[in-house]
Amino acid sequence: MTFIDGKALAQKTKETLKIRVQTLKEKGITPGLAVILVGENPASQAYVRGKESDAKSLGFISIIDRVDESISQEELLKKVEQYNQDKNIHGLLVQLPLPKHINEKSITLAIDPKKDVDGFHPVNMGHLFLGNPLMIPCTPFGIMRMFEEYAIDLEGKEAIVIGRSNIVGKPMATLLTMANATVTIAHSRTTDLPSITKRADILVVTIGQSEKITKEYVKNGAVVIDVGMNRSESGKLVGDVKTCDVAEIASFLTPVPGGVGPMTRAMLMEQTVLAAERSTGENLV
Ligand code: GUN
Repeated sequence: MTFIDGKALAQKTKETLKIRVQTLKEKGITPGLAVILVGENPASQAYVRGKESDAKSLGFISIIDRVDESISQEELLKKVEQYNQDKNIHGLLVQLPLPKHINEKSITLAIDPKKDVDGFHPVNMGHLFLGNPLMIPCTPFGIMRMFEEYAIDLEGKEAIVIGRSNIVGKPMATLLTMANATVTIAHSRTTDLPSITKRADILVVTIGQSEKITKEYVKNGAVVIDVGMNRSESGKLVGDVKTCDVAEIASFLTPVPGGVGPMTRAMLMEQTVLAAERSTGENLV
């Protein structure tokens, strides 16, 4: 059994990005990433600190715009528009979740799709689902990179994604389909989950329930990707997979922490560099 080292792969990815940033700087362009953080949700604050640290270590212009949770939807839309217009900003995201009085869909729609480094805008989702992605949601994108790095063949394999969220489950299933896997999406209403997941050569788990997936859910030799980030009762960070149990039968497994999380962040940085490169007009992919 091999643990997939997301931390090491993220570091390697960032080393490659440093070269691309250098090339951009020689042309007078510094990649700029703006993150709008509304309110004081502790998990969001931690995620945003991580993004800021990555962006700074790569030599980006990094703006963290912290706003009070009482901000109105109109004021927040104005801020988004301000960064949409800012030529020094190539990547823009609004950290989720947002307070209840703000409509997340309206905010996502307001972000310029060219700067939408999260890949959440319906235009980017549309390009992805049509098979011609421009910006890809960072978590599934990072997972595809892990498969590549570890030479995990997807062609013709049975892949099962547990979870159908717009930002992980659905785009993950699309990317796996594009890689010629045979894909099933299971979710909280699936009956007899273990009988489905036991078929999987590739099992991606994104259900948000601490250590739910034990070896009873997993086929011998399966590749298991754990997207979960939960706090156990003792305050420890745990995934959706019971690692010690599944490690006995999986062929590859991502740890938590140090698996999917660091790759999500690395992909956000990569897409910011890509957006900056595209802004030169030379690399219109
Ligand atoms: N909240 C949790 N994960 C994410 C993410 O990837 N992007 C944004 N914008 N908010 C999040």
